[in-house]
Amino acid sequence: MSTPESRTAPVSVPQLRQMKSEGRRISMLTCYDATFAVAMDRAGVDTVLVGDSLGMVVQGHDSTLPVTVDHIVYHSAAVARGLARALLVADMPFLSYATPERALDTARRLMGEGGAAMVKLEGAGPMLETIRALADRDVPVCGHLGLTPQSVMKLGGFRVQGREAAAAQRLRGDALAVQEAGAALLVLECVPRALAADITAALDIPVIGIGAGAGCDGQVLVMHDLLGLRGHHRTPRFVKDFLAGADSVEAAFAAYVAAVREGSFPAAEHGFDG
Ligand code: KIV
Repeated sequence: MSTPESRTAPVSVPQLRQMKSEGRRISMLTCYDATFAVAMDRAGVDTVLVGDSLGMVVQGHDSTLPVTVDHIVYHSAAVARGLARALLVADMPFLSYATPERALDTARRLMGEGGAAMVKLEGAGPMLETIRALADRDVPVCGHLGLTPQSVMKLGGFRVQGREAAAAQRLRGDALAVQEAGAALLVLECVPRALAADITAALDIPVIGIGAGAGCDGQVLVMHDLLGLRGHHRTPRFVKDFLAGADSVEAAFAAYVAAVREGSFPAAEHGFDG
């Protein structure tokens, strides 16, 4: 475990932008406890996300909707204790940022009690005011567009987004608007690889893809997927089992970091056509 003195994460928000400008790819993994956080940190993972995917992979729900702010605070605080280098991002749970006021209160908890350096929220449109309110008060924000799991009821399932021309155009506009509202980072989930590459090139902020092809500035995977752990959910096609062929969990994380950095993950078979 890290000591209190070593807990300050050397990877900073401005550094992520610098990595994009220098063409250095950013690795991100989800994490939910201190022991895995130590292993990720040692393996050189740049950013660690306490995702509301914990509702599915830790709590066993069918969606992320039951996750609460208390849950994310609890897991973030545990992960923060394990990190010495990686930048900690915490997810804002479903409806915990429905108004700018609620979002500010949620961010205060995720950063103040959970030790996060950045908060992540889904969507554009009505969320732009919220992103602006957070960013104007110096809360680093990560946007999340494409397949937004908190909208699963409206979307009717976990599906690739932005395949039709109008949807692609809307997604591109949303990404620019999220950046303009003050987001420092953007996650693009389940988007055709050409569209994701186009959005990544159009944005100044780093774009982290999941199921979005190799043309993004970085990649994120859910830790359980990377370790080949199968719960009762279907394994998405964009996942690669990095534990197969590695002799330890830490070596699997290191193999992922290396593959992201050199651009060998994701391969073509992990992405989607338009
Ligand atoms: O909750 C989560 O784990 C996420 C990632 C899939 C990006 O949002």
